[in-house]
Amino acid sequence: MQLSPLQSRLAASVIASCLLVALYFTLFSPHFALAAELKEALPVLLGDFDFDLAADQPERSPLDPVYEPEFPAFDRGIVGRATQLAMALTNNEAMPLNVDAGTTQLFSFAVPKLPARDEGRHSLELRDRHEAPEERNLGPNALERDASLEARDAQAQAQTLERRQSSRTVYISVNTCLQPQPVDPSKTTMDPPQLTLFVSTSASNQSPGPRGDPSSQVAVTFTEGAAMYNVTTPSDEIYLGVYAPNVSSAFSGTYNFQIAASTDGSVFSYSVDQDAGLILVDSDYQGALLMTHNLTDSTDPTAQQQIMNSQPYVMFAQNTKDRSINGLQYSYCGLQNYAQIAATKNGQFASMVTTGMTKRGPGSLPKQEFYFSGLNSSSEYVGILARTSNSSGTDSVLSGGHVFRATSFETNPDHGNCAIIRNLTFCDQVAYSVPSNPNKFGNATVLGQFYDNYAATMYANFNKSLAQIPCEAVSSQRYSLATNCSLCAAAYKEWLCSVTIPRCEDFSHDAAYLHPRALVQPFPNGDVLDQEALAAVHFENTSAFNSSRNPMIDQFVQPGPYKEVLPCEDLCYKLAQSCPAAMGFGCPLPGDPSFASSYGQRSSNLSCNYQGSAHLRSAAVPAPPISWALLGGAFVGGLSFVFL
Ligand SMILES: *[C@@H]1O[C@H](CO)[C@@H](O)[C@H](O)[C@H]1NC(C)=O
Ligand SMILES: *[C@@H]1O[C@H](CO)[C@@H](O)[C@H](O)[C@H]1NC(C)=O
Ligand SMILES: *[C@@H]1O[C@H](CO)[C@@H](O)[C@H](O)[C@H]1NC(C)=O
Ligand SMILES: *[C@@H]1O[C@H](CO)[C@@H](O)[C@H](O)[C@H]1NC(C)=O
Ligand SMILES: *[C@@H]1O[C@H](CO)[C@@H](O)[C@H](O)[C@H]1NC(C)=O
Ligand SMILES: *[C@@H]1O[C@H](CO)[C@@H](O)[C@H](O)[C@H]1NC(C)=O
Ligand SMILES: *[C@@H]1O[C@H](CO)[C@@H](O)[C@H](O)[C@H]1NC(C)=O
Ligand SMILES: *[C@@H]1O[C@H](CO)[C@@H](O)[C@H](O)[C@H]1NC(C)=O
Ligand SMILES: *[C@@H]1O[C@H](CO)[C@@H](O)[C@H](O)[C@H]1NC(C)=O
Ligand SMILES: *[C@@H]1O[C@H](CO)[C@@H](O)[C@H](O)[C@H]1NC(C)=O
Ligand SMILES: *[C@@H]1O[C@H](CO)[C@@H](O)[C@H](O)[C@H]1NC(C)=O
Ligand SMILES: *[C@@H]1O[C@H](CO)[C@@H](O)[C@H](O)[C@H]1NC(C)=O
Repeated sequence: MQLSPLQSRLAASVIASCLLVALYFTLFSPHFALAAELKEALPVLLGDFDFDLAADQPERSPLDPVYEPEFPAFDRGIVGRATQLAMALTNNEAMPLNVDAGTTQLFSFAVPKLPARDEGRHSLELRDRHEAPEERNLGPNALERDASLEARDAQAQAQTLERRQSSRTVYISVNTCLQPQPVDPSKTTMDPPQLTLFVSTSASNQSPGPRGDPSSQVAVTFTEGAAMYNVTTPSDEIYLGVYAPNVSSAFSGTYNFQIAASTDGSVFSYSVDQDAGLILVDSDYQGALLMTHNLTDSTDPTAQQQIMNSQPYVMFAQNTKDRSINGLQYSYCGLQNYAQIAATKNGQFASMVTTGMTKRGPGSLPKQEFYFSGLNSSSEYVGILARTSNSSGTDSVLSGGHVFRATSFETNPDHGNCAIIRNLTFCDQVAYSVPSNPNKFGNATVLGQFYDNYAATMYANFNKSLAQIPCEAVSSQRYSLATNCSLCAAAYKEWLCSVTIPRCEDFSHDAAYLHPRALVQPFPNGDVLDQEALAAVHFENTSAFNSSRNPMIDQFVQPGPYKEVLPCEDLCYKLAQSCPAAMGFGCPLPGDPSFASSYGQRSSNLSCNYQGSAHLRSAAVPAPPISWALLGGAFVGGLSFVFL
């Protein structure tokens, strides 16, 4: 059929249009698949673009026109450059971002130049191959690279001098803030996989990731939600990738993290050494008291006061049955999001924890303490200490957060007859569990006052006796050259508080050094021990077993059966040693019938009680040696004060 000129023009243009449309779809179809992928992500977050594409392409019709109007902005030019669209990091500034499983987020960090005066020095360092060890880390083929290092060094020297450029150390740190959660927590026992950080200092590898060239990048797998890496490099730009691995279908949700690069130090950090951890002072059936180590060794009052006015630490606590922080225990923001109890300003259940500074304990140095209440009985918890500010002054921790190693602790079974008291007025060193009864003393404050008032009354009697001693006399007329009245008064107070306020452990605790007390009395809930239970603790029908150390306790508190951490024997020896013989203080000696029910001996465990004692000590603090010969003369006057 012959076409008119008009018809043939139309035909030609229709065919051309068809070809154009076909060409358009052939060239541009990949972006529709990509666009679908990007529906929920930010347009700039184009990580492993090709990677995703390969996985998803077969399922999508390349000609499906539904996607076209939705993503008109994506033309080939933009997508072609997508792999170079890394987000720029600012020195010392954390950037939060989501990353979906199976993708990589890319970042770049322009290394700030050193101030001009430092440049010469650093260039010289370069010549000494200061950066060589770091560079070797960058590839697996160390040998091969070693061979080329000589040549490269010469080249680098020349280049460096030319560029007047210097090596700088860049600290990269990342914290996982959110991670995929189990769809059915009761069935899933594994934890979601950790993210991986990829670092490249080479301009030829600007998108480090699982598919990047392994010889020009380093992969750092996160540990418990945190990654720290430092690299010393002369390059102007560092390229980073944070890769989220594929996650099994047992999990849902995405990852979220915070990344920071710094030339000053790690913005996010963690440490695994025990020394920086927590000390468990004591726990009862519903609470626990923990404290830090001495925050300073300085005896300078101004330095101490400055620390006492700060609260450098925050703390997280978690029932170990609750798995929500698994995989995030070194991540500050992960803990903030998932920890059961967070002692931070806006933390979860912050009402369950109080924190404050104290100088209690040996040395009277500042420490921060944390008191948790409302915990479940017979449960295991982990406590994780963290710091956000640099206020402790020793090292320049940047603001992201430093997380310390976890400390575990347990709460007691629910007999309810040991309760932590603290913050007493007279016995100011007391902070531990004491015999209690929730039916008689509704709260720990009132219970604490009961014990404290009793100790203060006893002390007042002693104070009157001490007033009879010529304390202020000239040295030749004093009772001793080695000691004086203020040392005697201090020794008495320490002994008195330990003896009148017994340290309580739950009846079920079976350590041999614990002394069972009040066994014939009922528990606060009315239960009474049967013959079998009595036999198991070698019950003797003596007041040492069938009552408390102090009759006041049985009369007013009526705690029922409990076990006592006996006061340390050295408290008694010190008292007998420091006070005038006329006051008649005496101590039973190990082997005496009354010793076993009156005093305990120190060991690496908390096997006896002293003022300021705690359950976990980083090192055993040995008792000062007692000179038996010296003490011999002081043991007169019988045992009248031994058993109150
Ligand atoms: C991740 O999952 C996709 C499909 O969902 C698959 O094609 C890809 O190979 C997986 N990647 C790895 C590293 O397992
Ligand atoms: C990072 O630097 C610190 C000292 O500044 C060093 O102790 C540490 O080993 C370095 N870490 C790495 C991974 O290079
Ligand atoms: C604090 O320092 C004192 C004196 O150096 C020491 O005896 C004590 O054990 C320290 N306490 C803690 C909790 O580290
Ligand atoms: C106490 O136990 C209950 C039930 O097991 C649990 O839901 C709750 O989170 C626990 N609370 C604490 C503070 O551990
Ligand atoms: C602590 O941080 C402040 C500002 O955040 C800074 O001025 C100070 O120098 C830092 N102190 C130390 C010891 O790093
Ligand atoms: C201790 O008691 C005093 C009042 O006696 C109170 O002001 C202070 O807040 C208490 N400290 C703690 C840590 O409870
Ligand atoms: C404890 O009880 C006393 C008196 O019943 C009350 O004044 C005080 O506020 C209570 N303290 C706490 C912490 O509940
Ligand atoms: C003990 O008595 C002295 C006077 O002999 C008095 O100054 C001091 O305050 C008393 N101490 C106590 C705790 O009562
Ligand atoms: C008592 O002795 C101690 C230690 O020798 C000394 O520090 C203190 O000042 C003495 N106190 C009096 C009142 O002499
Ligand atoms: C203990 O002895 C007293 C009398 O000495 C007796 O009344 C009491 O029943 C005895 N208790 C037990 C549990 O044996
Ligand atoms: C406890 O033991 C003492 C000494 O054997 C005895 O006199 C007292 O009656 C006993 N008390 C009870 C409640 O069994
Ligand atoms: C310390 O406690 C542990 C565990 O309770 C025990 O095995 C050990 O024998 C105790 N050591 C001493 C010296 O009592």
